[in-house]
Amino acid sequence: MNVDGKHFRTVWMPEPGVVRIIDQRRLPWAFELIALKSVAGVAHAIRDMAVRGAGCIGATAGYGMALAAIEAKTWSELESLAGILVETRPTAVNLAWAVNRQIDALRNQPVTSWPDIAKCEAEAIADEDSAACEQIGVHGLELIRGIAAKKPGAVVNVLTHCNAGWLAFVDHGSATAPIYAAHDAGIPIHVWVDETRPRNQGARLTAWELARQGVPHTVIADNTGGHLMQHGQVDFVITGADRVTRNGDVANKIGTYLKALAARDNGVPFYVALPSSTFDWNITDGVKNIPIEQRGGEEVNWMEGADSNGTLHNVRVVPAASPAANYAFDVTPARLVTGLITERGVFAADERALCATFSDVARASAL
Ligand code: MRU
Repeated sequence: MNVDGKHFRTVWMPEPGVVRIIDQRRLPWAFELIALKSVAGVAHAIRDMAVRGAGCIGATAGYGMALAAIEAKTWSELESLAGILVETRPTAVNLAWAVNRQIDALRNQPVTSWPDIAKCEAEAIADEDSAACEQIGVHGLELIRGIAAKKPGAVVNVLTHCNAGWLAFVDHGSATAPIYAAHDAGIPIHVWVDETRPRNQGARLTAWELARQGVPHTVIADNTGGHLMQHGQVDFVITGADRVTRNGDVANKIGTYLKALAARDNGVPFYVALPSSTFDWNITDGVKNIPIEQRGGEEVNWMEGADSNGTLHNVRVVPAASPAANYAFDVTPARLVTGLITERGVFAADERALCATFSDVARASAL
């Protein structure tokens, strides 16, 4: 994606031993790059959400393993560095998927060849993520064309939650890829952007992305979507995903489930966009089996923002004596999902359809 006329991915390796990322903690106020030179540095960047979003943390962990391949001198050292990366964030499956893919690539290879093999594998993971998101845009565009055809000349209104944009992947984004494709194709489209408390990825990141791409959008408080749907202001919902079970249950940013309920109650199609690296083929029943990350209460109690001079402040928004709970994700059952938009097309959130289409991917990631 272009920033001030220059193309950026969210993560890349400019030279062996160095991983460069966009520091997402500084957006939308500053666009800054940081260099990570150790597995510990990569782990900290993922845990502290300098990089975030399922595809982006998967690719970053892939590059983190390229650093691990330089740091480790034995297989057990490599495995323990891999463990440090996997433990950083539990819900988005792309992270463990990328680390395991590196482990598979390095197994039985001479130690001296690890750095080159791991760098190549990291580049492949990043390239595939970018290509998959581009294809999600192609398939999602057809859906949007269908919706637009039912209201000729009128604006198509889409609601999205959190940031499933290019910042959450290597490039293009998942939920945003069809939106960008529709905008580029001249379809009049407007995006309702959920602010996405507590970390405000919608207000801070999705709004920043859409503004830079010139896509009309409006930021709304998280609880607004149901009201808009009741009043015919939302033609469809599209979100990303952090983990999707083989039967199509979707873990995504906290609050997604409530949007899916409101969408069902109002007959609004609810789509989820994901690359196949976000499927977890080893589990069904997402409510029971997907681990839900709990983060520190300070993310609920405090908010960061700029004053009218542009100076940043961190302010407390909850009484000092009140504890806060911070569940980072929730699970939307497959029955509430209209369709899954993937790099191979749009499919029902249904075990049989998914396993038939992705049998090769499922086999490769079976435990
Ligand atoms: O906690 P985050 O910001 O890493 O959350 C992940 C997400 O960006 C969202 O849940 C998103 O909708 C998933 S798409 C990668």
